[in-house]
Amino acid sequence: MQPSDQVKSRERVSAFGEVFTAEREVNAMLDLVKPETERVDSRFLEPACGDGNFLAEILRRKLVASKKQSIPPGKGKPFPPEFERQSVMAVSSLYGVDLMADNVDTCRERLYGIWDAEYAAVCGNETNAECREAVRFILRRNIVCGNALTLMRVDENQNDTNEPIVFSEWSFPFHDTRMQRKDYSFAELLSSAKIEDEIRTTGQGDLFASADGSVEPTFLKQYITDYRKVQDYDK
Ligand SMILES: C[S@@+](CC[C@H](N)C(=O)[O-])C[C@H]1O[C@@H](n2cnc3c(N)ncnc32)[C@H](O)[C@@H]1O
Repeated sequence: MQPSDQVKSRERVSAFGEVFTAEREVNAMLDLVKPETERVDSRFLEPACGDGNFLAEILRRKLVASKKQSIPPGKGKPFPPEFERQSVMAVSSLYGVDLMADNVDTCRERLYGIWDAEYAAVCGNETNAECREAVRFILRRNIVCGNALTLMRVDENQNDTNEPIVFSEWSFPFHDTRMQRKDYSFAELLSSAKIEDEIRTTGQGDLFASADGSVEPTFLKQYITDYRKVQDYDK
C-alpha cells in the first residue's frame, strides 16, 4: 500500500478517523501474535476493520496453515476436500465491523478474492459453486456494517438502526463436514465477565469464551448442517 492509499478523503478522516494501516505495520503488529495468526480456527474480530487490511493478511496466513493441515501423512500435497473444509474454517474465524458500507463491501470482496484464489489453486477442478456460496454467506454474516461503540447495525448514513449487531459462532463440533452456527448479540458477548477479565489481563480475549463455559449467553439461533449448505438455513 502506498502512503496515499492510506487516506480516501480529508472529510472521511475527520468524520470517521479513516486512515488505513500500511502493510508493513499490519505485518509487524500481527507478528506480535504470530502463532494465533497461523492457527486455522483462532478467532479475530476487528471492530473498525475498514477495507480489511488486518483481516486480509490474517486470512493469507491462515490459508497457508490450512494447506499444511490438509496434507495427508506421507504425502506432499494438500488433499483438496480437506483443504476446502479447513479454508472454510479459516474464513469463518474472521469478524469485522465498520461504519462505512463501502468499506464493508470492499472488505467482504477482498477476503472472498483471497480465499477463492487459493481455493482454485489447491482444489482445481474439484471446486464447487455450493462451497463458494457458503463462503460468501459466511462473509456477509461475519463482516458487519455497524457501530462498534453502540453495538448496533447502522444505515447508509452511519446512523444506528434498531437492529443489534449479531455474530455467529461457527464451529466443527464433530471434526467432519458438519458445521454448527450459533448466533449471539455482540452486546451480550461483550458483557460477559470472562472476556472483560481476559482483555484486561492479557490484551486478548475469546469472543465466544463464555459461550463455551458454564454460563452460556442466550443464543438467538442455532443449527448444524454440512458446511456447504450453511446458507440454506437462513430463510
Ligand atoms: C483508522 S481506519 C482503520 C481501518 C483498518 N483497521 C486499517 O487499519 O486499515 C478506521 C475505520 O474505523 C471506522 N470506524 C470509525 N468509527 C467506528 C465505529 N464507531 N464503529 C465501527 N467502525 C468505525 C471507519 O469507518 C474506518 O473505516
